[in-house]
Amino acid sequence: MIARQALRAATRSTRALGAINRAAPAVAQRSGFPSATRGYKDITFAKEGGSERVYERSDFGGNRLHEILGNETLAMVGYGSQGHGQALNARDQGINVIVGVRKDGQSWKEAMEDGFVPGQSLFPIEEAIDRGTIIMNLLSDAAQSQTWKDIAPLIKPGKTLYFSHGFSVVYKEDTGVVPPKDVDVILVAPKGSGRTVRTLFKEGRGINSSIAVFQDVTGKAFEKAQALGIAVGSGYLYETTFEKEVYSDLYGERGVLMGGIQGMFLAQYEVLRKNGHSPSEAFNETVEEATQSLFPLIGKYGMDYMYNACSTTARRGALDWAPKFYEANKPVFESLYESVRNGTETRRSLEFNGRDTYRQDLQAELEIINNQEVWRAGKEVRKLRPDYQE
Ligand SMILES: NC(=O)c1ccc[n+]([C@@H]2O[C@H](COP(=O)([O-])OP(=O)(O)OC[C@H]3O[C@@H](n4cnc5c(N)ncnc54)[C@H](OP(=O)(O)O)[C@@H]3O)[C@@H](O)[C@H]2O)c1
Repeated sequence: MIARQALRAATRSTRALGAINRAAPAVAQRSGFPSATRGYKDITFAKEGGSERVYERSDFGGNRLHEILGNETLAMVGYGSQGHGQALNARDQGINVIVGVRKDGQSWKEAMEDGFVPGQSLFPIEEAIDRGTIIMNLLSDAAQSQTWKDIAPLIKPGKTLYFSHGFSVVYKEDTGVVPPKDVDVILVAPKGSGRTVRTLFKEGRGINSSIAVFQDVTGKAFEKAQALGIAVGSGYLYETTFEKEVYSDLYGERGVLMGGIQGMFLAQYEVLRKNGHSPSEAFNETVEEATQSLFPLIGKYGMDYMYNACSTTARRGALDWAPKFYEANKPVFESLYESVRNGTETRRSLEFNGRDTYRQDLQAELEIINNQEVWRAGKEVRKLRPDYQE
């Protein structure tokens, strides 16, 4: 068993994670905001990767957000996980937001519950696109493809087309989504669920998001992407491309973030059970200790810190076994990346999520996970936590 004594603060690694060069701020001479400064950071996250530019919410102090977006109407097309979070965050910052969804569908009801008013700020999709200047396509990726033939003719010159995923545009052969040539096409992709986008914003924090420009006809596409990134609730923004965003996103969620972690947890749990360990012991040594004790340390201070916070026995064994897991997993990650790059993952997703029965089909598969012994044991273990809430 791993000893869980926390390291004293004095032993904590103090080396900087990266060299930060704050770029000399350029003075923005704008009417009504003459002394504002604009800045960004060029950060070397890893020597071999060169310097990367990061924009922060603090770069949008004063009136800058409203200078860029004040005359725009954000038409939030889709009010699911991302649509709701992004719409409410922008509205809370005084940006003009309308919602466009299927009349009387689930999203229509939810938008009304959140204060969007039919005929004033809530419209059927076509009308919202007509009224909006920035068309934020936040339908599910499969729906973006299915509805594109109806939406495309409504994206008139002067409007801006916005996505939160490079999926539709990058895999255009499969999705059929080819933006009109005469509009700006931009991306803000929050790196987390729409629920987190909202809760972090409400806590005064902010998710990190990727921003990119696919097409710049006005010369202002990048400025709009930055401003929208902050408007929808990001704390800081990384530059990327549509292609890099979608490749890394599809890869990550199939890998460590979701697919990989479920596979690892399940395999470890099953071997413990097969060798006579009780469900609670198998769950605690697989999931509970990971999520409650060790993973938060990785998030807060890094992998080396987490290792150092554990017993010397644990450290020795983990150092010996990490390369074996690395060797076993690397080929799986290589084939996963190729499957993303060659569009296999996209076609699979479009086919599955485009079915009329996709909600039921998905639920049926999730029910299998829900019923796995490891996750049933987890429900009971969670109830024992002193801070447990139903
Ligand atoms: N969720 C995330 O964690 C996340 C993170 C970053 C980026 N993104 C990206 O953000 C975008 C939106 O994702 P999401 O997760 O927010 O989607 P979602 O929760 O699945 O939202 C689906 C929305 O699309 C509408 N819709 C579905 N099928 C439709 C159809 N055939 N016709 C018209 N409307 C339809 C739904 O309306 P009804 O209620 O009427 O069905 C709902 O408003 C995607 O590009 C996604 O990749 C998502």
